[in-house]
Amino acid sequence: MSYKTIKYEVKDGIAAVTINRPDVLNALSPDVLNDLLSVSEEAEKDKNVKVVILTGEGRAFVAGADIAAMKNFTTQEALAFTKLGHGVMNSFERMSKAVLAAVNGFALGGGMELCLASDFIYASKKAKFGQPEMNLGIMPGFGATQRLAHVVGINKARELIYTCDMIDAEEAKRIGLVAEVYEAEELISKVTEKAKLIMSKGPCGIAATKRIMNKGLGIAMDSALELEQQGFSALFGTEDKLEGISAFLEKRKADFKNK
Ligand code: COA
Repeated sequence: MSYKTIKYEVKDGIAAVTINRPDVLNALSPDVLNDLLSVSEEAEKDKNVKVVILTGEGRAFVAGADIAAMKNFTTQEALAFTKLGHGVMNSFERMSKAVLAAVNGFALGGGMELCLASDFIYASKKAKFGQPEMNLGIMPGFGATQRLAHVVGINKARELIYTCDMIDAEEAKRIGLVAEVYEAEELISKVTEKAKLIMSKGPCGIAATKRIMNKGLGIAMDSALELEQQGFSALFGTEDKLEGISAFLEKRKADFKNK
């Protein structure tokens, strides 16, 4: 499928999704959100895709929801927009494959929320993060009120949201938002190395772990631990488990088939 507002390339098991509206710092218009929703579904279905990397064209990752597009929204239109945004974030978060955000520049508002729906956030030294919605008299609408608090704790999340402070990559790493910070020129190659490392692991195990870790955040500990028991035991019915354990015992590299 071809997309109007994003570039999409699948190579060697890695799906690279590049948001491509550099003139407006890759702001998330309804068109971009619809493209992102479709591409997440395409990548999920494609058996050749093992890992997804999200990034932005130009000097921004995503500088937020499209402010010009939002100017005349009625409350009903705003509701449809936040639901669309949530659909996109949920779709990436619920993919069975790992999603890595490679943050090349501004990740603000909906851009930071797209990062929060990813499994890991890697940042260039030029990256900047923030939730500036209160500058506009509105509030985060694509998941930050919940996901940011899960990642950095509720106090830090409140502070970032109420003050609209923009933080750099090192500070984002210090508060646990970002996994690693790289030189700008190295960002994509370093994130690709991480993607390849993750791809070499058992895909059934990653899919089950991702689903259970995400689900576990919203339910009671006992129920979450039961999900872990079910996930762990279900993997013993997979070919991946047979291959992984046999490869270890035979002192060879595992060749997982995602079955
Ligand atoms: N929605 C729509 N357009 C946006 C945008 C957004 N979220 N963010 C930036 N743009 C546009 C600007 O309007 C400008 O367009 P123009 O060239 O037609 O004037 C272009 O992108 C470049 O942005 P500019 O502000 O000139 O760049 P800058 O380097 O001076 O500042 C930012 C960069 C990110 C600090 C600034 O653009 C900004 O604050 N953006 C809004 C961030 C925000 O509030 N996001 C949350 C939205 S809910």
